[in-house]
Amino acid sequence: MTAPIRLATAGVGNNISALFQGMEFYRKLSAQGHPENGFPGVKNARIGGIGVSDLEFVAAFDLHENKVGHPFHEAVLAEPNNYPLLDVPLPECPFTVQPGLTPDDADPSSVGFKRVTEVLAESGAEVLLYSLPTGLQWAAEAYALAALEAGVAFVNCTPEVAARSENLMSRFEAAGIPLVGDDLASHLGASVVHRALLGLLSERGLTLTSSYQLNLGGNEDFRNLRDQGASKRQSKINALAQEGVDTSSVEIIPSAGFVSHLRDNKVAMLNIEGQGWAGTPVSIDLKLKVQDSSNAAGVIIDLVRIAAVARRAGAAGFPAAAVRALKSPYGGHPKYTGADVAHSLRALEEAVARQADTPHPGVPEKG
Ligand SMILES: NC(=O)c1ccc[n+]([C@@H]2O[C@H](COP(=O)([O-])OP(=O)(O)OC[C@H]3O[C@@H](n4cnc5c(N)ncnc54)[C@H](O)[C@@H]3O)[C@@H](O)[C@H]2O)c1
Repeated sequence: MTAPIRLATAGVGNNISALFQGMEFYRKLSAQGHPENGFPGVKNARIGGIGVSDLEFVAAFDLHENKVGHPFHEAVLAEPNNYPLLDVPLPECPFTVQPGLTPDDADPSSVGFKRVTEVLAESGAEVLLYSLPTGLQWAAEAYALAALEAGVAFVNCTPEVAARSENLMSRFEAAGIPLVGDDLASHLGASVVHRALLGLLSERGLTLTSSYQLNLGGNEDFRNLRDQGASKRQSKINALAQEGVDTSSVEIIPSAGFVSHLRDNKVAMLNIEGQGWAGTPVSIDLKLKVQDSSNAAGVIIDLVRIAAVARRAGAAGFPAAAVRALKSPYGGHPKYTGADVAHSLRALEEAVARQADTPHPGVPEKG
């Protein structure tokens, strides 16, 4: 049997609540005899033999007073998190949330940085999931360096530059550790729907004249994105450009407003104006409503499994298997074909299958 993934998380926000509770949702389905290949909302029942409930949280970092010092299983449910409470039994986790990095701790010689690195290393984590508010470039770099120092794979959920940093990527490659990012592409998010519709226009030979994407929500991510939306806006543009869509006439507003009563629901309004035969107008207006953090967790579950499988397989740097799950992947453009992605996943799975008897290989010793 494949060992569960030992997962650490930077940020204990809604994404983590959705991931933690969702794993128990599927565990309950499994116990009721539901076949995993028919789980609702799951793309890959197993990656490298690892199912969607086969994650064990082993360490967590945050700065919020409702979370730091509290047992992890309580912190994930603490305000201002507002992902709904699912009707499933939740396990107790035998560790408390530790204080995270502040700007003063960004320097690897600082006491705070060393403390976080030690906690990570001692926890035996295989993957550090970076899930902080958008807009904190210093934090993305600092947590990535802490993961590198501790020999832990890094997954960047946010639009900050980590996997796209040549410096960070070459250091992870040299150390033999996977670096996965940047910015997860939500399960059925505004970006993938928008991209599909714009691609359809192009495929059918219509001309795009203008388009916009407005997003609204009532969770902390939307509150933050109102003022800190620049990197997210660029990442959403990157997501559209990935498939060759011309984005010059596309306007995107990551958070057009914080609407508290929407809670963890997101509403996206998409508009597309185009021209068909003889220049006559075509117009599409679409409203998408989703549980925002489920939309994240449904993809995080794959990114974490790919990162862990890559680490177990001894594969360094960026695993191509992750490319479709990201808005701004390493390489920036459609560097990898569908065949590359499938090949990468198969290669990782085969490498892990060969090592089935050594579930937690360490990373190379530092010289
Ligand atoms: N569908 C989605 O929800 C989705 C999709 C793509 C990307 N993302 C990105 O994922 C990230 C996390 O989203 P979320 O909804 O969980 O956000 P959130 O605001 O609910 O959680 C962020 C957590 O990070 C903590 N934090 C802040 N500074 C910290 C620090 N220095 N160290 C440790 N913890 C710190 C906060 O206290 C909070 O608990 C955001 O950047 C968001 O844009 C989300």
